[in-house]
Amino acid sequence: MQNVPLPVVRPRRLRRNAAIRDLVQETRVVAADLIAPLFVKEGDGPPEPVGSMPGVQRLSVADLVAECRALHGLGVRGVALFPVTPASAKDPAGTEALSPGCLVLRAVRAVKSAVPGLVLFTDIALDPYTSHGHDGILTADGSDVDNDATVGVLAKMAVLHARAGADFVAPSDMMDGRVAAIRAALDAAGRTQTGILAYAAKFASAYYGPFREAVGSARAAGTTALDKRTYQLNPANRREALADALLDESEGADMLMVKPAGPYLDIIRDLREASSLPLAAYQVSGEYAQLHAAAEKGWLDLVKTRDESLLAIKRAGADLILTYFAKDVAKALAEGTVAGR
Ligand code: PBG
Repeated sequence: MQNVPLPVVRPRRLRRNAAIRDLVQETRVVAADLIAPLFVKEGDGPPEPVGSMPGVQRLSVADLVAECRALHGLGVRGVALFPVTPASAKDPAGTEALSPGCLVLRAVRAVKSAVPGLVLFTDIALDPYTSHGHDGILTADGSDVDNDATVGVLAKMAVLHARAGADFVAPSDMMDGRVAAIRAALDAAGRTQTGILAYAAKFASAYYGPFREAVGSARAAGTTALDKRTYQLNPANRREALADALLDESEGADMLMVKPAGPYLDIIRDLREASSLPLAAYQVSGEYAQLHAAAEKGWLDLVKTRDESLLAIKRAGADLILTYFAKDVAKALAEGTVAGR
């Protein structure tokens, strides 16, 4: 029998104890990476839980302000606001989006004056306002979203949000040419310092289900579930996603986003290598819901899978992560209970 030589290279030397592992850890998630998506509702009633998103609630403007203060205190730098529009204020054209008194504008003003140090992102798309739930205005025969008519409305909406105090407007609609139109409208309105976080590669994903429940855009009354495949990206297409995202950069986006995050880590990596802009990834409602659901059954450890899911998104190349776990993670980081960070 020949002697097997002892291995000279022993990768396990770097994994021997917690201190060594900590020293060689390549990726860390910190509170400053996180942006918390928050849902705001009309009235001053108590928070309303979102059934499929444990721990997530629709908040009155006053509760939203309190939540923003708490997040800021925990080191979270940004929040993304999503209004829940009452069904009575929705119509096919989403006209509420341009109403000067609309909920999201009141929410932006309140948060900006109470917590000026928090970076405010607002969503630019018509789905919270349209009775059919699509992100834009429909064509005359109702068969599709009218791109150019929608872009005109989105540009106006962005100016209203900027004037109210949004630091970044975040077009999530996936219409063609919207970043250029929004940039031009903001500049014409003197809002040259308002930034654009473009939902650059947003896929037609089934993982948005719980969010649509939260904002009530899941389906128009009496119709089938929404199909957004004429504007959101085909989950099968990597080259198309990259090309579309780079178009947003060329149109003047300040930051790019990939959405969803976990199932699209390859796209995050591709875009990280193709662009020098800050890159955000949105861990969407369904990604959050699935970890909670499995944890409720005792099948997964919520805290460990939460932390691993965020680490993976960061490792893939995201600089910023929009996640419904933002507050829990920021708290754990502040308490030093996140392992190996
Ligand atoms: C719509 C919008 C969606 C999300 C953010 N903005 C849903 C959709 O496209 O239908 C989803 C976020 C999530 O699932 O957490 N403009």
